[in-house]
Amino acid sequence: MLRVDREPSLNIACVGAGYVGGPTCAVIAHKCAHHRVTVVDISEERIAAWNSDELPIYEAGLSDIVKECKGRNLFFSTDVDGAINEADIIFLAVNTPTKANGVGAGFASDLTYLEAAVRRVVKVARRSKILVEKSTVPCRTAESIAQVAAANARPGVHFQVLSNPEFLAEGTAIHDLLHPDRILIGCMPTEDGLKAQELLTNIYAKWIPRKKIIGMHLWSSELAKLAANALLAQRVSSINAISAICEAVGADVGEVATACGQDSRIGPHFLTASVGFGGSCFRKDILNLVYLSNALKLPQVAKYWEQVNLMNEYQQHRFSKRILAALFNTISDKHIAVLGFAFKKGTSDSRESPAINVVSDLLSEGANIRIHDCKVPSKQIFRDLACSLANGRGSVEVCETPYQAAMNAHALVILTDWADYQTLDYKAIYCSMSKPAYLFDGRSIVDEQEVRQIGFDVHIIGRARERSLPRLYQNVLADSRAVV
Ligand code: NAD
Ligand code: UGA
Repeated sequence: MLRVDREPSLNIACVGAGYVGGPTCAVIAHKCAHHRVTVVDISEERIAAWNSDELPIYEAGLSDIVKECKGRNLFFSTDVDGAINEADIIFLAVNTPTKANGVGAGFASDLTYLEAAVRRVVKVARRSKILVEKSTVPCRTAESIAQVAAANARPGVHFQVLSNPEFLAEGTAIHDLLHPDRILIGCMPTEDGLKAQELLTNIYAKWIPRKKIIGMHLWSSELAKLAANALLAQRVSSINAISAICEAVGADVGEVATACGQDSRIGPHFLTASVGFGGSCFRKDILNLVYLSNALKLPQVAKYWEQVNLMNEYQQHRFSKRILAALFNTISDKHIAVLGFAFKKGTSDSRESPAINVVSDLLSEGANIRIHDCKVPSKQIFRDLACSLANGRGSVEVCETPYQAAMNAHALVILTDWADYQTLDYKAIYCSMSKPAYLFDGRSIVDEQEVRQIGFDVHIIGRARERSLPRLYQNVLADSRAVV
């Protein structure tokens, strides 16, 4: 049986020093100076970066916290076995990407890394421990973890498995960790399960009000994480679907979103139309939900969620097509400046960024692209575009400033909502560009009137270029009214 003291000083280990493991443990160490927190990873490069002044990920406020705690009660190490052995509680924050091969390829989660981490823990552990699923996992993964653990544990060693999904968003990770909307702690409703849940609750309760720490069954906690991401992504796809209608009928998606968001039942969040959602999780977690639904013989449910991803892909390619159409359907050898490569502002992460698909579309037409991003390193941009560049059409250059990217360009394309792009000297940019100079804003961040007055031919997501209805749609709408 697990022992739970009133204020124990715990050894906490975290396997996986990525976007979740690193910031989460930094905040635990910051708020719980009496616990010793060790984050381990198999990537020597990543651990070396955590131990340097150049952290491997950019998050506002992260480096200050790491600086305060590192060497005091926060450690980054490649000594996975050492950290496991000393730990009372082990967070599993390894990557759970979409399976690339075999059964379920393209949909199911690849749990190779998670299972490898669990097997390592169980092989090394000489005493009982609590295992905490931090990674986002398919439903009932905790059951598999418990089975692997029970089958391989040394005599007298027991593992309690908890689900404690992470809801931080990149760019605001530190704020989200310090002030979460809620913390879920799923457990098996057994005596030991509830004790383990209480121990983890006590860690979070150091800085989070207890009413926000919600205990529930393991399966509910695992599914709640997938459901939350699916619901958020669904809102973005819904407003993006509306944005396509807005462009066709001359409505403004910003106005429509404000009108809908003012309804207290709908609420204003996640209704900003964009060139599509990106990030490592929305697409992956929806694919996971689709796979689960199909496996449960619920094809209608699977189709419903699949449409959220399909709408997202449609939105990205629709934006590329809008650029192509405006530039007379020919962009071969034309210069296009792309502002923003990260999947959203405030992060250096470009995983599943809509910029990858849009730039790839433009490259396939033979365009020469100059990219600027506020945080994504050029090495990463070239890695993300390697496949598209391999077909030999078009070219990519990464620029130090937006102004360099725009020099002599035929079009300026905004793909990330960095605040810096709102305050650029658009007059100077316009003067340096080929004419007519086009501006495509996939994030609705420019002042439309101002850039129009400067002389740009402006195309903003969810807004028609002209408010008057194109003749084609006048006829279509007249027909639809006749039917009604
Ligand atoms: P990541 O790829 O940034 O980090 C995962 C780390 O785990 C890598 O550094 C990898 O080297 C390490 N790793 C893999 N197998 C290992 C092993 N056996 N032993 C030691 N280290 C190992 O991933 P991430 O973005 O931090 O995401 C981790 C999990 O959290 C995923 O399941 C993801 O869905 C979920 N999640 C991510 C976010 C986010 O904002 N990125 C938010 C909430 C939840
Ligand atoms: C998302 C969730 O918000 C987190 O709660 C969750 O923990 C995380 O996924 C995860 O599981 O990985 P994140 O992907 O970091 O966080 O960022 P979001 O702010 O959710 O944005 C996701 C994408 O949607 C971005 O590309 C963003 O630009 C886009 N978006 C978001 C819109 O296009 N419109 C909106 O109104 C909101």
